[in-house]
Amino acid sequence: MATVLTLAGDGIGPEIMTQAVEVLKAVNNTFALDISLESGLLGGAAIDAAGQPLPPETLDKARAADAVLLGAVGGPKWDSIERSIRPERGLLKIRSELGLFANLRVAKLYPQLAGASSIKPEIISGLDLLIVRELTGGIYFGEPRGIRTLDNGEQQGYNTMVYSTSEIERIGKVAFDLAQTRAKALGRPAKVCSVDKANVLEVTELWKQTMTELQQQHYTDVALSHMYADNACMQLIKNPKQFDVMVTGNMFGDILSDEAAMLTGSIGMLPSASLDAEGKGMYEPCHGSAPDIAGQDLANPLATILSVAMMLRYTFKQEEAAASIESAVSAVLDDGLRTADILDTSDSALKKVGCREMGEAVLAKLV
Ligand code: IPM
Ligand code: MG
Repeated sequence: MATVLTLAGDGIGPEIMTQAVEVLKAVNNTFALDISLESGLLGGAAIDAAGQPLPPETLDKARAADAVLLGAVGGPKWDSIERSIRPERGLLKIRSELGLFANLRVAKLYPQLAGASSIKPEIISGLDLLIVRELTGGIYFGEPRGIRTLDNGEQQGYNTMVYSTSEIERIGKVAFDLAQTRAKALGRPAKVCSVDKANVLEVTELWKQTMTELQQQHYTDVALSHMYADNACMQLIKNPKQFDVMVTGNMFGDILSDEAAMLTGSIGMLPSASLDAEGKGMYEPCHGSAPDIAGQDLANPLATILSVAMMLRYTFKQEEAAASIESAVSAVLDDGLRTADILDTSDSALKKVGCREMGEAVLAKLV
């Protein structure tokens, strides 16, 4: 028997998790996956109940589980508490403690949603790109870090952006391997664009050089290009279909993945996988906890439901079960059901639904 730990978290987390869990239970039955579910506390919910964003009990459960499904963490309620125990720290710590260094974020346009994107349909039609973001290093974790008081009494905030060759190589391998797999599956040439800021930052000069060497030594069948992060932001808007796999560090990946998500109409559609060296993973939507709409049945549960699909594909190797969820999501979109974030208000054929109705509709479409 396999175990999945669910961590609903804060804000819209519990609402979207409820829907995703129903979907997981349904495919668990249909495909006889023998998955058992456990739940735990993370983020603000854990601070309220246990005084810290990642209680040891949650970490133990996460280590014991085969995969973790996460909702979202954070909210204004915990913004003013001491920095080291804020909700986001719980998320960063669980990523780091579980060694989940490879974050995969797929930005795929559902043709039904082309009208919901703020970008012209011809620019984004057929879009399917993968951002491979390094998740346990870089400026997010580099030391020293903090806020100090200078001699003149002024305060100074500081962080450190660091990457070692081995960290760059291991994320590079994930990106090149996935580019090869995607090239086969999608019938197009394998290509990776490595995003850096090597014109300014030494740490990314090493990044660029290491990626180049890795490609030359082991991946000559994959075309490697390099792009500065600022230009990559621009190119993603101008001509996103030039990209297949993008690989980058923690902070640039954070930024680029939000941007890529928005190309597809809404960040409410984008699932993600965070994997360790063995393929064990934590799966979560790319969006945050959206405290402004929490508890109002307005959230889009599809990114979390699609995260379940990624979990079945990457950790449990259950391609058929994964595909059945993705088809169900697509079928619901075909039927014109839309949560507020993906509603094209100019199209009167669409039906606006809440989080629960959207989840139930997906459930009803599952084979
Ligand atoms: C994400 C989020 C997190 C991050 C936050 C909530 C810490 O923005 O998963 O992209 O910056 O990694
Ligand atoms: Mg982010």
